[in-house]
Amino acid sequence: MTEAEFSATDISAAIGPGLRRPRRLRTSNNMRRLVSEVDLAPRQLILPMFVADGIDQPREISSMPGVYQHTEDSLVRAVEEAAELGIGAVDLFGVPLDSDKDAEGSQSWHDNGVLNRALRRLQKEFGSDVIVAADTCLDEFTDHGHCGVPGHDHHGHSVIDNDATLLRYQKMAIAQAAAGADIVSPSGMMDGQVEAIRTALDANGFQDVAILAYSAKYASAFYGPFRDAVGSSLEGDRCSYQQDPANRRESLLEVQLDIDEGADMVMVKPAMPYLDIVREVADMSPVPVAAYQVSGEYAMISAAAANGWIERDRAFMEALLGIRRAGADMILTYWAVEAARRLK
Ligand code: PBG
Repeated sequence: MTEAEFSATDISAAIGPGLRRPRRLRTSNNMRRLVSEVDLAPRQLILPMFVADGIDQPREISSMPGVYQHTEDSLVRAVEEAAELGIGAVDLFGVPLDSDKDAEGSQSWHDNGVLNRALRRLQKEFGSDVIVAADTCLDEFTDHGHCGVPGHDHHGHSVIDNDATLLRYQKMAIAQAAAGADIVSPSGMMDGQVEAIRTALDANGFQDVAILAYSAKYASAFYGPFRDAVGSSLEGDRCSYQQDPANRRESLLEVQLDIDEGADMVMVKPAMPYLDIVREVADMSPVPVAAYQVSGEYAMISAAAANGWIERDRAFMEALLGIRRAGADMILTYWAVEAARRLK
C-alpha cells in the first residue's frame, strides 16, 4: 500500500483516540517557557578566581582559555564585573611564588600571603556588597603539592598526616576570616576538617563566617587544568584522601559527617561525572548543596568548541542546567560571568 492510499480514518484507527501528546507542551517558546521545570539564575553561580603573586598583568591559563591568574588590581576589576552581573559569590584561590612554598604551606596563614592579601583588598573595595569565599586548603602553598602535611604512619611509611593538617587548616581559616572572607571552604578532604575549622573560628570571634564544605570530593582526572592554573607542585596522587570514583555510599557518609560537624553548605565535586551523587546528596541534605563544574569540564567544552565540534555557549548552558536539574542549589563554574550575561 502506498502512502496515498491511507485515509484519515485508517490513521486514527491505528493510533487510537486517546494518544498522549507530550509535544503539545513543546509547540512554542512561550508554551515551553510556561512548563520549564528548572531555572538557572546568576545568584546561583559562584565564580572561582585565581590571584597570583609576582605577576604585573593577568596571565591566561593555557588549558582554560578565558580564565586568568589575576593581579590584585585585575582581580578587583573582574570581581566588580561579576558582581554587576548578579552572580552569587566569588571563590578565591591563591597562587604563591614557588620560593614561598614550604612543606607545611605556611604562606596560607600569613597575613601577607597572596590569598590573604587579596581577601583584605576585596574586603576594602567591596565590603559586604560581594560574598567572598576562600579556598581553605594547603595544596597551592606546599612545595610537595599535597592538601595536607606529610608525616609517618605506625609502620614508618610516609603519609599525609590528618590531624597535623587540621591544625594548619585552623590557622588558615582564622587568617582568611580576619582578612574578610565571608565563607571559608575546606577542600582537602581531611577527616574532621569542618569541626576543627568551626571550633577555631568560633573561638576567635568569627561565629558568622560560614563553612562551605567540599564534602564529596573525588580523586578525579578532571582537575588536570586546575593544577596548571595554580602551578601545582604535586607529584603522585591524592587517592589517600579524596574519594574513589567507584563509590556512592561513601559520599552520603562524608556529607552527613560534615553536616554533623557544622557545615553550613555541602559540595559535590566534580559535577558532570557525578550527577547521580549530586541528586542523592540533594535529596538527603538539610543544608544548601553546591556542585563544582571543575577545570576539566571547562577545558573539554572549550577544546571541542575551538575545534568547531560543539557549540560552546549552548553546551555550557546545557551542562549548567543539567547540574541544577540534578539538584544543586549553587554551581561553582568558570563560566559564571558568561552565563550570567546570557541570562540577563
Ligand atoms: C585542591 C583543589 C583542587 C580543585 C579545587 N581545589 C584540585 C585538586 O584537588 O587536585 C580543583 C578545581 C578544578 O579542577 O577546577 N585544594
